[in-house]
Amino acid sequence: QDISVQLEPLAQRFFQLGTASQVGVVFASAVGLIILLNVVQQIFFKNPNEPPVVFHLVPWFGSTVTYGIDPPKFLKANRAKYGDVFTFVLLGKKTTVMVGPQGNDFILNGKLKDVSAEDIYTPLTTPVFGKDVVYDCPNSKLMEQKKFMKIALTTEAFRSYVPIIADEVTTYFKKNPDFKGRSGIVDIPKKMAQLTIFTASHTLQGKEIRDQIDETLADLYHDLDMGFSPINFVLHWAPLPWNNRRDHAQRTVAKIYMDTMKSRRQRGDDGAQDMMRHLMNSTYKDGTPVPDHEVAHMLIALLMAGQHSSSSTSSWIMLRLAQHPEIMEELYQEQVKALGADLPPLTYEDLAKLPLHANIIKETLRLHAPIHSVMRKVKSPMPVPGSNWVIPDTHTLLAAPVVSATDPAYFPNPDTWDPHRWEAGNPNAPTSIVRSEEDEEKFDYGYGLVSKGAASPYLPFGAGRHRCIGEQFANVQLQTIVAMIVRMFKFSNPDGSRNIVGTDYQSLFSRPLEPANIRWERRENA
Ligand code: HEM
Repeated sequence: QDISVQLEPLAQRFFQLGTASQVGVVFASAVGLIILLNVVQQIFFKNPNEPPVVFHLVPWFGSTVTYGIDPPKFLKANRAKYGDVFTFVLLGKKTTVMVGPQGNDFILNGKLKDVSAEDIYTPLTTPVFGKDVVYDCPNSKLMEQKKFMKIALTTEAFRSYVPIIADEVTTYFKKNPDFKGRSGIVDIPKKMAQLTIFTASHTLQGKEIRDQIDETLADLYHDLDMGFSPINFVLHWAPLPWNNRRDHAQRTVAKIYMDTMKSRRQRGDDGAQDMMRHLMNSTYKDGTPVPDHEVAHMLIALLMAGQHSSSSTSSWIMLRLAQHPEIMEELYQEQVKALGADLPPLTYEDLAKLPLHANIIKETLRLHAPIHSVMRKVKSPMPVPGSNWVIPDTHTLLAAPVVSATDPAYFPNPDTWDPHRWEAGNPNAPTSIVRSEEDEEKFDYGYGLVSKGAASPYLPFGAGRHRCIGEQFANVQLQTIVAMIVRMFKFSNPDGSRNIVGTDYQSLFSRPLEPANIRWERRENA
């Protein structure tokens, strides 16, 4: 009896193991069957009325991982296999890619009844920006909001912004402990992120808000930023710690802006050229003045939209200059020649005299556009011109101007960073198919004339009704930052090589992989 008592737990354990392994076998078989059915369906039951589907083993996950690791590489590899139009599965969604200028046009200039940006972006953006703006309102209201934002960005405003930005840059490098002494090595993207938020908040939101960035606002914006993790496309609603912090930050930042508006109103108009003042004095077509909470939410949206794109771009510019110290020297000489050896305080008018400074930005955006994938939800079945395919309304559309911007058909030696390619007659100049902005067809979607970008392979600022309204601001901001840094420093790679770091695609906006160190050396007179 003693032995049977001792054996009983052993037998139970054996039985449990047996059950567990049986469950394991059943589970593995089920998974195997699902994968097999998925494969069989892809091979034998192709839908001739839809574009080809990128082959994948696991349903729902599809190509999520390969796309997510390096989207441009994934898109180019599958374009080579399937052609300019193909579908892949991204987190359970059938996503139809259309690359090349025609694809850019088809998606970015799609009709309102056919495509929607808000259906894709609102779960991510509304908790971060707040209610009633951008993608949390009808498209016609967004068009009016973009008009208000665009009108505020006048030449007069830019004229007042250049000295503000120049001053922020000078002060930053004077005060920052990582730039003490004559030379050193620094992880540059962190510095550019700070410079971007200081310059954007000061110019767009006014001095009062800028003064609060160092204390409270930087941390709050960091918490808001966490709401933009791609995982939030699925988990935006979940009561997770980062979502709770996002919601708290949204309420707190909006309140800071609304309190500032109240006190500005009490003090009376000071004529400042910032965005807050312009939005506070804007009125919708139906006569409704823009309510304070919408002004606050638009200000958050503008700062967030500009922050990631401009800070990623300026980081890439600095890394490219470290890779090409001779181009940094050319920039310095360009300023000396155009503005005089004493390099007087920079003005808005000076920027037009510095074409290489402008081309540095253009070429960096060609290779490192921070928005690699632009998505739209299909609202009604869309026939693909020149084919028998119809894209059903269950699909998402994905445009990737970055693919055409690095296509040898349009840009000779496409992977070479060469700012001089934008000069006429340069051997690397874009092919004649690439039209200049002035030659593009223009259309007014409700926020002023914009180029439709139809058939353009180079669209870092998008096209159509959702086109960027921050392009001129970004150019003024980036050119001023570059010009001021060139006056102060010489950059190179710490190991003296011509290497450059890879791209980090983990967040919504791509950026340099960190650490991305550069060696800086202060110029003799700086
Ligand atoms: C839209 C790129 C800077 C505000 C866009 C789009 C792109 C883009 C590609 C189109 C997105 C889509 O179609 O879904 C960039 C780049 C920038 C930059 C590369 C800098 C280098 C800025 C700045 C601001 C800004 C500084 C604000 C001052 C906006 C706004 C939209 C937009 C409001 C409109 C969104 C819509 O209509 O759906 N940007 N942007 N951007 N951007 Fe920018």
